[in-house]
Amino acid sequence: MTATIRPRRSALYMPGSNARALEKAKTLDVDCLLLDLEDAVAPDAKDLARTQISEAIAAGGYGDREVVIRINALDTPWGETDLQAAIQACPDAILVPKVNSAADLQRVAHMLSLQKAPAALRLWAMMETPEAMLNAGAIGACGRDPEVRLDCFVMGTNDLAKETRARLSPGRAAMMPWLMTCVAAARAGGIDILDGVYNAFQDEEGFAAECAQGADMGMDGKTLIHPKQLAPCHDAFSPSEAEIQWARRINDAFELPENAGKGAIQVDGKMVERLHAEMGKRVIAIADAIAARG
Ligand code: COA
Ligand code: MG
Repeated sequence: MTATIRPRRSALYMPGSNARALEKAKTLDVDCLLLDLEDAVAPDAKDLARTQISEAIAAGGYGDREVVIRINALDTPWGETDLQAAIQACPDAILVPKVNSAADLQRVAHMLSLQKAPAALRLWAMMETPEAMLNAGAIGACGRDPEVRLDCFVMGTNDLAKETRARLSPGRAAMMPWLMTCVAAARAGGIDILDGVYNAFQDEEGFAAECAQGADMGMDGKTLIHPKQLAPCHDAFSPSEAEIQWARRINDAFELPENAGKGAIQVDGKMVERLHAEMGKRVIAIADAIAARG
């Protein structure tokens, strides 16, 4: 379960086999880095990618960016070796692909415990298989189990399209039930959730629309494939100045002595309840955390 509020607006994937990308990541304005050993790395390059990622993390230089290693699934020829290397490298989190059930995460968590991995090393789960869509509630519930150390869902929409044969058409109508089910499962488990990637990274308009859609759905951020997606992604997932001001107005209003005993009040001609003040507190906390990042 995510203990502290941490901005996760952007999570940029990069193949572990691409040394230039691992270096460039140190200069980018990005919240999370997803250093990939899985789908973005060809079988022949798996060993190189593993070594490069381990060396890059050991060398440091990623500042306050959250560093996450995506390993191969444990039932592949690389999974176990990846997991051992990831535990040694000790990033902020290990992203487990092709999670089908809570048991898949429990298995990885058990191996972390056996290796005495520090509690600060967290797990993230790719939600990208038909089974995961059907088991989303149980997988999300791992967020409430400290043994599993689950902090975040990552929607794997390309794999989901492949496995289900649903199309990733503009607006993603076919994907919406699964995306929203996973949002509900993440919230029920008290964890964060990041939207899937937008493959056409040259299509600025389409990307902005999909970011806005993800923000409307309640996603905490979006996974990205190219640095040029960073700025528009942050625009969509950062609280706007107007939202921050509104959040402050509501909280100030409830603090007035005359409103002390009230559950619902009027602010600028709108009914607001204490739940809106709670929502506002979260907006302010996220905005403060973003500002603190500089
Ligand atoms: N992470 C870090 N840096 C990246 C990057 C990434 N994902 N994608 C591109 N860059 C860098 C390039 O190294 C280049 O930097 P430089 O000019 O300072 O050397 C700059 O951004 C421009 O790159 P560009 O030439 O436009 O793209 P490309 O042809 O080098 O790469 C992709 C295009 C799609 C192959 C590449 O963006 C990529 O590998 N993305 C991630 C894919 C991935 O991890 N998928 C798995 C999950 S879906
Ligand atoms: Mg995949």
